[in-house]
Amino acid sequence: MSITQGGYAIVVHGGAGSPCDYKDGCEQAAGRAVEELGISGDALEAAIAAVTVLEDDGRFNAGRGAALGLDGATVEMDASVMDTRGRLGAVACVQGIENPVLLARAVADTPHWFLAGDGANRFAHAIRHPTWDKISEHQREQHRQIVKKLAGSAQAMPGVDNQAFLRFWNYEKAADFPVGAACDTVGAVVRAPDGHFGVAASTGGSAPSLLGRVGDTPIIGSGFYAGPAGAVAATGIGEYIVRHLLAHRVYSWIEDGMPLEQALQRGIALFDKNVEVGLIAVSRLEAGALSNSGMPFAKLIQP
Ligand code: GLY
Repeated sequence: MSITQGGYAIVVHGGAGSPCDYKDGCEQAAGRAVEELGISGDALEAAIAAVTVLEDDGRFNAGRGAALGLDGATVEMDASVMDTRGRLGAVACVQGIENPVLLARAVADTPHWFLAGDGANRFAHAIRHPTWDKISEHQREQHRQIVKKLAGSAQAMPGVDNQAFLRFWNYEKAADFPVGAACDTVGAVVRAPDGHFGVAASTGGSAPSLLGRVGDTPIIGSGFYAGPAGAVAATGIGEYIVRHLLAHRVYSWIEDGMPLEQALQRGIALFDKNVEVGLIAVSRLEAGALSNSGMPFAKLIQP
């Protein structure tokens, strides 16, 4: 079904490689975006509203469900927002805060577009952004799976020797395992009835990873992009996604007139099958989602 002027389109994903039975979370998030469109009519606020639902859910690798670092204690999160009104904000490696996507939105109102690490955390503190430092059993179980995978012979991160994580270990606490991977980001793209586009994304990063690692999610043109022809969000292993500037590349194809489904297929085809990757996109007339590894998503269109 295509979208006409005046209608809306919302696509929400729960991460490449996430269980597809988490789809209910994506549906709830998309419903929240519709509500927000009814209140503000703003594509970006709607995309952010959807992402906050997924950050609060606890099952997805973002916000309350963000992947634990290899030390089993640290949680570093990245998030980004962008729209066609010129709003652009991102944070990377933030710790102990609630809803990183709202912090990324707050950065968009500063003189900068991107804050990282300690400065981003201090910014959160300065604006009295809510804190969150609880670790759930779901997060601990995910961590146990990753450590188990690192101890095995299969690569926990495609193309990377498991020993590399011990060789370059930079957590304060010493590694206490011999040497599952998680890379599932959450994201939402929205076309509002006024024709504007917005995108929001959030992640606990890829696991396993070293301390301070940043993937694609907060990198403009890699994990997210919005322009006059549409909005795109990517999910998967950031180290691979950034090398293709994936979100902007797919956006450019759509802008050049390629059918959206074909642009998504071409984007996914850039990657080896063992590299989990997913895409969601909206354009003036279409909306879609595609992944090579299973990805819960929800799509709501009002023509
Ligand atoms: N796509 C999430 C990450 O690689 O950090």
